[in-house]
Amino acid sequence: MLGSILRTRELVKSFGGVRAVDRVSIDVRQKSLTMLIGPNGSGKTTLINLVTGVYRPDHGKIFFDGTEITGYPPHEVFRLGVARTFQIPQPFRKLTVLENLLVTQPGNPGEGFIKSLRRGRWKKFEQESVEKAFRILRLLNLDHLWDQEAEKLSGGQMKLLEVGKTLMAGAKLLIMDEPIAGVNPALAHEIFETFTRLRDEIGITLFLVEHRLDIALRYTDYVYVMATGSIIAEGGPAEVVYDPKVIEAYLGE
Ligand SMILES: Nc1ncnc2c1ncn2[C@@H]1O[C@H](COP(=O)(O)OP(=O)(O)OP(=O)(O)O)[C@@H](O)[C@H]1O
Ligand SMILES: [Mg+2]
Repeated sequence: MLGSILRTRELVKSFGGVRAVDRVSIDVRQKSLTMLIGPNGSGKTTLINLVTGVYRPDHGKIFFDGTEITGYPPHEVFRLGVARTFQIPQPFRKLTVLENLLVTQPGNPGEGFIKSLRRGRWKKFEQESVEKAFRILRLLNLDHLWDQEAEKLSGGQMKLLEVGKTLMAGAKLLIMDEPIAGVNPALAHEIFETFTRLRDEIGITLFLVEHRLDIALRYTDYVYVMATGSIIAEGGPAEVVYDPKVIEAYLGE
């Protein structure tokens, strides 16, 4: 049994009189696909904002990979390996799929880097970066599109490219808020299959918020359920959906 990569203890965040997050303690196991679910307004996005450093907690502690990160700003949290992707991907539209990954590589020398690739004069760092990028593109099933401009990708492919950029940057924990919102069912399944492949083949941990439980739960290792700011249930997906407290929380929505 692997340890947890992300832990929170008694996190609290209030907005005015509303306790959006109310003493939340969670343990996200390394190399798991962990879901955070709950009715609208239950505090899921606020919890993610706390974990990624967007908000500072009023109370409580956050640990990532053995380090306490409470109060760290977003770029510091990111530097340690916590990546968050947003609902609307923002690729460099005129760069190719491959170039989009390469400009994300930490330590890359910038625009000159892309120019030198286009001239085909590769140095060792560049060659290693290209190999790493192709490994990631293969996992995401985007390798056949490597020389396409990013703007030509479908919405689903852009989301995967966004994930690829975070992997290129060295993410260990990937956090996503509603990754399959607005995506058709076939593609939504494909996206979740890709997530499980990333988990199994490169050992990434995924912590996801999602409302479309019919699709998401079958790929999920562990679930936390929030309602009015608190965790009301946790466990494997099959047990959690039959928990009377969870059913009641959703019915009251
Ligand atoms: N920046 C903010 N200022 C004031 N109130 C906020 C802010 N962000 C969230 N809230 C309130 O905190 C509570 C939790 O909101 P949050 O967005 O975290 O819920 P959620 O579970 O992500 O909901 P949804 O499923 O609709 O995305 C809600 O009552 C919301 O109105
Ligand atoms: Mg939300």
